[in-house]
Amino acid sequence: MDTTLLATTLLLLPCLHAVAAGLRITKVEVPRYLIVGKQATLRCHLALEGDVLYSLKWWKDGKQFYQYIPQNNPPNVVFTVPGITVNPQHAELNEVELVDVQTTSTGQYKCEVVAEGPTFNTDVMAANMTILDTPDEPPRITGLEPNYRDGETIALNCTSSRSRPPAALTWAINGRQVGPEHLLTYPVVSEGKPPLHTSTLGLSLTARPHLFAGGTLDLRCSATLHEYVWRSDVTATLDNVTYSQPHHLPTLSKTNGSSGQGVSLSLLLLLTMMMLMMTVKATALAPLSHSPLLT
Ligand SMILES: *[C@@H]1O[C@H](CO)[C@@H](O)[C@H](O)[C@H]1NC(C)=O
Ligand SMILES: *[C@@H]1O[C@H](CO)[C@@H](O)[C@H](O)[C@H]1NC(C)=O
Ligand SMILES: *[C@@H]1O[C@H](CO)[C@@H](O)[C@H](O)[C@H]1NC(C)=O
Repeated sequence: MDTTLLATTLLLLPCLHAVAAGLRITKVEVPRYLIVGKQATLRCHLALEGDVLYSLKWWKDGKQFYQYIPQNNPPNVVFTVPGITVNPQHAELNEVELVDVQTTSTGQYKCEVVAEGPTFNTDVMAANMTILDTPDEPPRITGLEPNYRDGETIALNCTSSRSRPPAALTWAINGRQVGPEHLLTYPVVSEGKPPLHTSTLGLSLTARPHLFAGGTLDLRCSATLHEYVWRSDVTATLDNVTYSQPHHLPTLSKTNGSSGQGVSLSLLLLLTMMMLMMTVKATALAPLSHSPLLT
């Protein structure tokens, strides 16, 4: 720094101090959402702006769990705070790693820095982290019957068990999301302490041929915890489901001329053995904790 600049700086010092020049936090990086058991890297980016750092501290919900004082030996100290396990091999000035995060790790994380005298500038910046406890298994579809007749109600439930927060459920038929007119919402059931939540979403449809256009009815239920962060799907495919058409419907009756028995198409439909092929496959997508949508 040349002397002219130094003189200017000194002259301006009172004004600069008023607009908080000196040591400041430029950015705090804390994962917004994480899944239980994962690790979290917390970063506190500083601009010294001529100051000398005295200390950096991390707090969770008002409780200090970490301090870094460059002058001390060792410089880093970890304090016991519920829900916080610091990786001692990865506890630096700018970066602290928490391992095996739990739902109790959910909270507000605050970085606080203090400069040495004479300025003793301080700055704080906070960010929230939410830990998701995902279901142990994919959602379940229940209520499927081996066959449905025309006009019959297809009443199903999709249930996602034991998560925190409760899973949001959606139904899709043949690739298209089902509107609220076909859905039945049930209250979330919570159990345990801290509670885990079970969500159920009902689907109610009338069996009609157009639903089975192409011979199959594809049902998909998706469970999500904070959309884009965690998602799990289950699909059920009803293949070759046939209907008992009301046989008085003349438009659907057609005599089979080549057969002496004159079997009508509607009778054929009526007598056709209903077949159900159901495949249930579950895909738990990898957690997208580094999705740019979240940052
Ligand atoms: C963190 O969460 C608290 C409580 O839920 C809220 O009041 C606060 O505004 C949030 N802070 C940030 C930085 O999102
Ligand atoms: C769906 O679940 C709700 C709530 O548990 C229950 O009352 C209802 O009978 C179930 N319906 C079907 C079709 O299983
Ligand atoms: C569905 O029916 C068609 C024609 O009858 C048959 O070829 C096919 O194998 C059946 N699919 C299943 C899964 O049974």
